[in-house]
Amino acid sequence: MEVPLLASGKNMEGYRLQLLLSREQIASIVEDLADRISKDYDQREVVLVCVLKGAFMFLSDLVRHLRMPVQVDFVRLASYGSGMKSSGIIKITKDVETPLEGKDIIIVEDIIDSGRTLLFLKERIALANPRSVKICALLDKKSRREVAIAADYVGKEIEDVFIVGYGIDFKEAYRNLPEIHYVTPLPSPTH
Ligand code: IMP
Ligand code: MG
Repeated sequence: MEVPLLASGKNMEGYRLQLLLSREQIASIVEDLADRISKDYDQREVVLVCVLKGAFMFLSDLVRHLRMPVQVDFVRLASYGSGMKSSGIIKITKDVETPLEGKDIIIVEDIIDSGRTLLFLKERIALANPRSVKICALLDKKSRREVAIAADYVGKEIEDVFIVGYGIDFKEAYRNLPEIHYVTPLPSPTH
């Protein structure tokens, strides 16, 4: 399937999208994660903290397969430097509203790269004295890690490639794609 590369002027000229995970593959990864989480927490209530914006689609699929009582909340973090690399300087632009003290928290994230976002968020959430804090990430680029942080639930480990789709963007484009694609440079034209 060809995916159009232009989205309101954010044309990735010189790049193309290639399929990494189909809808079916994503669905199976998400169901498997939900099964593991449901077993581990049994009937204990959890608060899912979804990291906006990238994890919104993952959260909405994950949550409908969980079999314990859940609450859902959202946090939005801004990491300076957009495009293909995060800078490591992080600030909260939308905080969690649910009281977290004494609660079992699962942070729901789309993808772990350097790990800086999650390290920051996990430490921030710990200040609220929850009973536990775990991390569930759909994808993990383990080889890119710059700080010591590991997810408790990882959907799939991937290579160091830039991906879009299923909520994940390039300059705000491509979040709506139901599959996950990776971005590769086109071979430069020879003259
Ligand atoms: P970290 O703080 O370096 O771990 O960055 C994690 C965040 O960077 C993710 O939540 C994404 O928003 C973004 N990110 C990392 N890799 C990709 C990618 O391949 N495509 C799109 N966004 C990405
Ligand atoms: Mg993100």
